[in-house]
Amino acid sequence: MIDRNQKNDRSVLVWDLPVRLFHWLLVTAFAMAWLSYEDNRYLDVHTFAGYTFLGLLIFRLVWGVFGTHYARFREFSYGPGDAIAYIKGLFGDDMRRYVGHNPAGAWAIFALIAMGLVLTVSGLFVLGGEERHGPLAGIVGFRQSVPFRETHEFVAYTLLLLVFVHVCGVLVESFFHRENLVGSMFRGTKSVATATLGVRPHRLVGATIIAVVAAYVIATFGGYLTATKEKPYLPFQGPHLVMNDPWTEACSECHLAFHPSLLPLRSWQQILKQQADHFGDDLALDEKTVNELLAYAQKNSADLEQTEPAWRMNSNIPSSETPLRITDVSYWKRKHEEVDAEVWKRNEIKNRANCGACHFDAKQGTFEDADMRIPGENAFDGIEWLKAILGGKDK
Ligand code: HEC
Ligand code: HEC
Repeated sequence: MIDRNQKNDRSVLVWDLPVRLFHWLLVTAFAMAWLSYEDNRYLDVHTFAGYTFLGLLIFRLVWGVFGTHYARFREFSYGPGDAIAYIKGLFGDDMRRYVGHNPAGAWAIFALIAMGLVLTVSGLFVLGGEERHGPLAGIVGFRQSVPFRETHEFVAYTLLLLVFVHVCGVLVESFFHRENLVGSMFRGTKSVATATLGVRPHRLVGATIIAVVAAYVIATFGGYLTATKEKPYLPFQGPHLVMNDPWTEACSECHLAFHPSLLPLRSWQQILKQQADHFGDDLALDEKTVNELLAYAQKNSADLEQTEPAWRMNSNIPSSETPLRITDVSYWKRKHEEVDAEVWKRNEIKNRANCGACHFDAKQGTFEDADMRIPGENAFDGIEWLKAILGGKDK
């Protein structure tokens, strides 16, 4: 802490390189997460941002113990009284300037880190439960992940508010002390009194952070560059649901072998009971096969709500009804009403029940939001894209 009236005649390094990188990468990851959260097709961007955010926070926890002087938590653990006194001081005579974090700023930083951890960890639960992806895939069921989704959303908004307060604080302090704090977070330096010592820049740690983030960017998005329309890049296939050979064999001859998690058990029982008249076809299954299929359906039907589609399908079917078509269920209709009539007639699709034309994971039954493209639309062709950029061609 230094007196406002002291002469600040020396410029020293206050924020080492790792702290500055942490700060601006965190800002970037936070912005990326907000920009990508709404459209499920960008779920890979969103999770990339989330993992980066979590990684940065963990690094900061370590750096708060082993880092340079001003980066250490110990250096800026002030009591609530200090923060209040600091804010009061801004408007009175007792205005103090801190070389490192001031007490109010320090509180904001601890809150940002704590909430960031809650945000990213709840995100992992949502990712595991809803998308069957990440470290908790297959461990957290869809139903269990619902409260985590609520937490995730609530904390995201609260954190946004806190970021706003933090930015206001920085602007207020910059104004009162007539110094450019934002510039300091870029350059790392501040003008201080003669006696204050600067810190080591730690360029090697900084370079390591950059290398790790760069490698992660390539690992996550590199696949897009080699993807083609025929072989699209599928970043979002989670672990498969339980598959079953007799089922696939008996049901994939004429159409996709719909995964049993798409309809309740009573529907499959009915379908198999009337197998001699299956939408005009005779399935001609023997009794042993039928029993095998029923046993598999029983362990994987929509009633068990293993996945988000299973849960949504099941909760949209009144218990008095036994739909024989997936495409008759109100949830399915609602989800697909925005698909134009023209699209359904396309050669690659032809039939509504041709789920695999649009959903890359249709066979597995997972129907993850991010794992689909309507044929001819939204397909990201990496080579075409590169050609367009390099060659400046129209398409
Ligand atoms: C011999 C051909 C054939 C086989 C084998 C077959 N199906 Fe079908 N299935 C059809 C036809 C035809 C339709 C109606 C397609 C349409 O109207 O679009 C259909 C439709 C369905 C539908 C409704 C799809 C929708 O619109 O939501 C379900 C569910 C279904 N089949 C389940 C099964 C199961 C389970 C098996 C394996 C036990 C099976 N099918 C095997 C011919 C077959
Ligand atoms: C013409 C392409 C197309 C076909 C064919 C198709 N879908 Fe879809 N599906 C979509 C679109 C578009 C959405 C909406 C995605 C969104 O809301 O983000 C969707 C959404 C869904 C969802 C909700 C995913 C989620 O979690 O939001 C499920 C489940 C689903 N489809 C299942 C099916 C099943 C089962 C079939 C086959 C019986 C099928 N779809 C056939 C295009 C298709």
